[in-house]
Amino acid sequence: MAQHFAKLALLWVAVHGVVSAVSFTIPSQAHTGSYSYAPVEPAPVGISFEFFAFPSYFTNVTATNQCLTNWKDLTGVWPPIRIGGTTQDRAVYDSATSAYVVYTVASATDAPASLTFGSSFFTLAATYGGSVVVGLNRGKDDIQNTIAAAKVAVGDMSNLLAIELGNEPEYYASAGQPIASGTWTPAVDAASQDNWDITVGTAIGKTAIIQAGNSNDSPPTWGAAELIATENATVKQYVKDYAHHNYPGGTVTSLMSHSSISSNLHVFDADVAAALGQGKQYVFGETNSVSGGGAATVSPTFGAALWTMNYVLRATYSNISRTYFHHGTLGACQYCFWGRYSMGAPYYGAYAATALMANAAYLTALDDGTTNYAAYVSFDSAGAPLRALLYNSDYYGGSGTRSSQSFVLSGLTGSSVRAKRLTGDSAVARVDQGGIVTFGGQTFTDGTCTASGAETFETLAVSGGQATVSLSASEALLVYLR
Ligand SMILES: *[C@@H]1O[C@H](CO)[C@@H](O)[C@H](O)[C@H]1NC(C)=O
Ligand SMILES: *[C@@H]1O[C@H](CO)[C@@H](O)[C@H](O)[C@H]1NC(C)=O
Ligand SMILES: *[C@@H]1O[C@H](CO)[C@@H](O)[C@H](O)[C@H]1NC(C)=O
Repeated sequence: MAQHFAKLALLWVAVHGVVSAVSFTIPSQAHTGSYSYAPVEPAPVGISFEFFAFPSYFTNVTATNQCLTNWKDLTGVWPPIRIGGTTQDRAVYDSATSAYVVYTVASATDAPASLTFGSSFFTLAATYGGSVVVGLNRGKDDIQNTIAAAKVAVGDMSNLLAIELGNEPEYYASAGQPIASGTWTPAVDAASQDNWDITVGTAIGKTAIIQAGNSNDSPPTWGAAELIATENATVKQYVKDYAHHNYPGGTVTSLMSHSSISSNLHVFDADVAAALGQGKQYVFGETNSVSGGGAATVSPTFGAALWTMNYVLRATYSNISRTYFHHGTLGACQYCFWGRYSMGAPYYGAYAATALMANAAYLTALDDGTTNYAAYVSFDSAGAPLRALLYNSDYYGGSGTRSSQSFVLSGLTGSSVRAKRLTGDSAVARVDQGGIVTFGGQTFTDGTCTASGAETFETLAVSGGQATVSLSASEALLVYLR
């Protein structure tokens, strides 16, 4: 009989494609066991706004305020923002204009080839309740104009966290930027950054104010370690932190794969260590799924939402303090979390990650990043576990049987724990095209970003400190440990 039962069980496994459970043990206290623990900022998940588009996002896109408020409701603080991008190096400060930005484009979905901006740009940024990084122009090689702008930013913005001097300088030569008209190499750029850090920092009378680096090409050719090696103590006192950009690209399957995400982040390990070695933070100043505004077949999908969630958690675990997800031209932005009229699926992934890390002081990963299955635990400032997040990054493209993976969680207390599921029709579901994605049963409304539907928790029974839960392919689960 027992043998017969075992055969049946094997048959069931063969038919349903269920593989053995993955098991994780929740540490009872941060900084115990063989895990590595990263500090967590009050709001590690941020937004980057393309320079010229920032005033529109803040004055003419209803969802912006609510989408940011939703995260503030989770964490108690406004998400950090960064204003910058390619158009920061096309922008000239004009003290005479009362407009936020002035430019003309042939089509509404074009980014301007040149623009001017006035002091009201900074007054608008100053109204935001969270920290702001402002990216200013270095490409045009007009340091006096940049200093004039920086003085207004410093004077008007009590929420100013840092100033960038140039965006993705490795592309200056191909973009025909004046500063790169002679030889332009990582070393020449580093010398330029160092001089600008000192000159601008001195002019505005502020130390620890420059967000340095801001390259997109992978380290070590361009990056914090390479830059730090060129800096003396005078330069270093003006540097607030180091930033890099990252757009991993690929297909939905490769993008959302946990092992791919983990490998992608290891590219930055040496740079993160170099920044921390200077006692300064390392951030992703601008990042998203696919460069150039995103890819239509990849960036708006639920798979990209799962990438967003797992990527920012793995980045935080790698000691990357803040991750600013880029938002570009309105109406031409595949990876945007929201626009004027629609929500983007990736917002849900960023929301789930924010929910895991809300009010946390520490984060650990319970897996080594080599499989499709991930587990994270957040802890409060006393080191007590707050929540866990489980991720099944197996790809489900919407046809055929959706496989599932069993997760066993140990080290639990009490008789049950509650959980919220992040799920969607499939990894290719697009909420902007009618696909369904939910977190805890809720959706975010197009155009307004307000939560809709009943907040739904599932209950996992705990027996002997253990709970077992099944996650379908392309799903995540946030478990509330108290
Ligand atoms: C706001 O957006 C609408 C729709 O694209 C546009 O027609 C209008 O000009 C915008 N207004 C401002 C002040 O940017
Ligand atoms: C530090 O480096 C800058 C150039 O990056 C140079 O102008 C300055 O003289 C150096 N300061 C010292 C004290 O060596
Ligand atoms: C992150 O930094 C902490 C120190 O704050 C260190 O203990 C930990 O090992 C680092 N994590 C990684 C993945 O390097």
